[in-house]
Parts: sequence; C-alpha cells; structure tokens
Amino acid sequence: MPTLTQRQLDGFHEDGFIFPVEALTENEAGGLRDTVLQHLADCRRRGGARAALAFGPKVHLLARWAHRLVRHPALLEIAESMLGPDILVWGTQIFVKEPHGSTDLAWHQDALTYDLDAEGRLAAFRVWLALTHTTAENGTMRFAAGTHRDGIHTHRRAPELNGMLRGDEAVLDETEFVRHDVVLRPGQCSLHDMLVVHGSGLNRTEETRVTFAIDYLAPSARPSSGQDSALLVQGEDTHGHFVLEEAPKDDLSDETLARCSDAVRMRMARLQAMEEERKKSGVLTHG
Ligand code: NI
Repeated sequence: MPTLTQRQLDGFHEDGFIFPVEALTENEAGGLRDTVLQHLADCRRRGGARAALAFGPKVHLLARWAHRLVRHPALLEIAESMLGPDILVWGTQIFVKEPHGSTDLAWHQDALTYDLDAEGRLAAFRVWLALTHTTAENGTMRFAAGTHRDGIHTHRRAPELNGMLRGDEAVLDETEFVRHDVVLRPGQCSLHDMLVVHGSGLNRTEETRVTFAIDYLAPSARPSSGQDSALLVQGEDTHGHFVLEEAPKDDLSDETLARCSDAVRMRMARLQAMEEERKKSGVLTHG
C-alpha cells in the first residue's frame, strides 16, 4: 500500500516538494547517523578515491549499509506511491554540516546538473532524509514554493561567502515566492522535484547536522545524452535507459571501489559534456 496520501501527492505537484514525510524510526535514524559518521571517518583515514567518493554521488555502490538503506521498505513505499512499482536509484549523497560551519548552498535547481528527461508523469524525485534534527538554526534545506513550474532558471556562479564556494545560483526574485525551511526530526524526510529551487543555510548551532539524499527514478526517466547507470531496487527495468548497477559485496574494498569509481566516471563524463552545452546556450553564466 502506498504510504503517501492523495493530499501529500497533490501538495508535491502544487509546491514542488512535501515534508515532513515519516520514513524511519528515530532509533533507526540515530543508528544510521553513527554509521554515516564512521563511514566518513574510515574513508578519510584511507584517503585517495575512497575519501573523494565518501560523500557521493553513489554511496550505495560503496558500502552495504547505504545499499540497504535505499531498499528500506518505508522508502520503497514512498517511492512506489510517487513513481509506481518499478524503481531505480540513480544517486545517493551524504550532507554533513559541522557545528558553526561556513558552508551553505545558494538557491539552485538539481535539474540544472542532473540532465534527466522524463516522459509525461513524474519520473524522478529526491528523498532528503534527516539523520539528526534539521532546523533553520542548523542550516536546513529551504524550498522556494512553486518554482518547479517555470522550467530551468538561468544560473550564475554564486558569490563566495567567507571564502567558500557555494555552487551555482538560480537568478530569481526572492519576493516572488514563499520560502519553507525543512524542519524535520531524525527519521523524517522531505521529497522534492528536481526542478524546484532550493538552497540551505549555515549551521549556527553546537550540533553536527547529518542528512542523506536518495534520487529515485522510474525506468521511463533517461539521461538526456550519453550513458549513465542506476540500481534497480524494485520491480523491473521496463525501459533499459540505464546500465544496471550491482550491489556492493562488501564495504570499501578495492573491487567495490573500482565499480563505484567506474559508475561515477560514466556519470561525470556525461554531465561535464552537458555543462559545456549549458554554458554555450546561456543557461549557465559564469563570471
Ligand atoms: Ni540540490
């Protein structure tokens, strides 16, 4: 049975996001927070490609706990009620905000850099799962309601803050939308459309903020150009647009790392070619 109500689904289509959505228990989320921090420490200690790939974009190919998480029954139920019974996972990413850290994210659309096409109905969305409390004070994500309806906005290089790079920034009038801070307790998540404009603030608290993002796709989604891979987590791959990934057999071994690196390289090659196109067409203005 789908876990999302019609009201939640309508809200997603109206605003481009919904939250809070119940997913894990607070206990499960607390355990996962510890696992994530241990994973990051292990990757940092071993260095090299492990350190480079520790945060993503495909943690589910690097460690078994992440592979189990993307198949968590509660998350699959959410994905099924959004996409239907056939489900792929394209990306997984860890977000950590250190106490009093200096990282925030400018307003942006994920679609700018994901370059996925979908026919007709919704074929892709992102789960953003809280493994600690997320609040306005600890730099939670914020959404600009309804901005998924205007296609891809022009983005420019965001001005630096305290010498930190903040990614590409969507050019938009902040007075024209309602802003929503994603306040969640551990185990709850938000869901968002790849076209909705969002960003995040600074962590001004004493606590580390940890979240985990998963990109679920219907098999009808496809890379706009080039080859890419995804993991089938439920049902069938009815379209064959993606090279199918294999579950990791262990955590961080050389073989597992090599498979993850190959998948990430395939994705990055495709997306870099796309970024050049976007610069040529003027959607991305740098400088
Ligand atoms: Ni984003």
